[in-house]
Amino acid sequence: MNSSAAARLPVGALLAWYDEKARDLPWRAPDASPWAVLVSEIMLQQTPVNRVLPVYESWLARWPAPADLAAAPSGEAIREWGRLGYPRRALRLHECAGVIVERHGGEVPCTVEDLLALPGIGTYTAHAVAAFAYRQRVPVIDTNVRRVLARFLDGVADSARNVSGSDLARLESLLPRQPERAARASVSVMELGALICVARTPRCADCPVAADCRWRSAGCPDNAAPARRPQAFAGTDRQVRGLLMAVLRESAAPVPAERLDTVWPKPAQRARALDGLVADGLVDPLPDGRFALPGMAAK
Ligand code: ADE
Repeated sequence: MNSSAAARLPVGALLAWYDEKARDLPWRAPDASPWAVLVSEIMLQQTPVNRVLPVYESWLARWPAPADLAAAPSGEAIREWGRLGYPRRALRLHECAGVIVERHGGEVPCTVEDLLALPGIGTYTAHAVAAFAYRQRVPVIDTNVRRVLARFLDGVADSARNVSGSDLARLESLLPRQPERAARASVSVMELGALICVARTPRCADCPVAADCRWRSAGCPDNAAPARRPQAFAGTDRQVRGLLMAVLRESAAPVPAERLDTVWPKPAQRARALDGLVADGLVDPLPDGRFALPGMAAK
């Protein structure tokens, strides 16, 4: 973001739009717990809302508080994660739950500093929990917010850079002073990026802040870095890992190596995928040659 731009966020227009048009998502409900918000933010990384919703619901029904998850074997967390993908996130949440119990008496901490000290929690997630769960005046920048700010404030289609400390400081300076209003402004900008100010076909006619948008007044220049090509999936190690994990998730008992051999015809790639899962702590190789989800060997 270009910090020289004189800037203002039309917060009133954003909040009015959000109140009328935002999606009714469970982690935004006033009674969503900080734990529910943390779970949602980890699940929503790299994963669309509609895929997250059913897993979020079943996860919180089963583990409504960090202590509930911490008491379960990590393999159960991986099983419940189902087909959400990137299952290391399930392990990370499980580990987080344990640390929240040990260090914070089972309550998700509320300061950015304490949140950042949890395992696997980065700037985005720490800020999102502080703002959305604890209603603090903390800047939250995901890819949607980054794009909205690049367009609205700087008149460019998107920012090519990763989010920096100065981006965060700049957004913070633009948030309303009152914390609850700031938290609502933060989720409004995020929702605007998800529904209106989308990457490829922005719906400027429906945008509540189009009149003040620098990108629009500059004629919507197409000056973003070329969109990354979607990652290939078919035939990749990631696909093979997914197939192996599906067999382990669906089996109540440890799985013999021969059963895993059936998931993929190329032995070297299969072995590489399985080794990777073991190295990541997602699969336990048992002394008898079978494989299990972690912490589930006794079953
Ligand atoms: N609301 C709060 N955080 C969100 C996210 N990461 N994605 C979608 N909606 C959200």
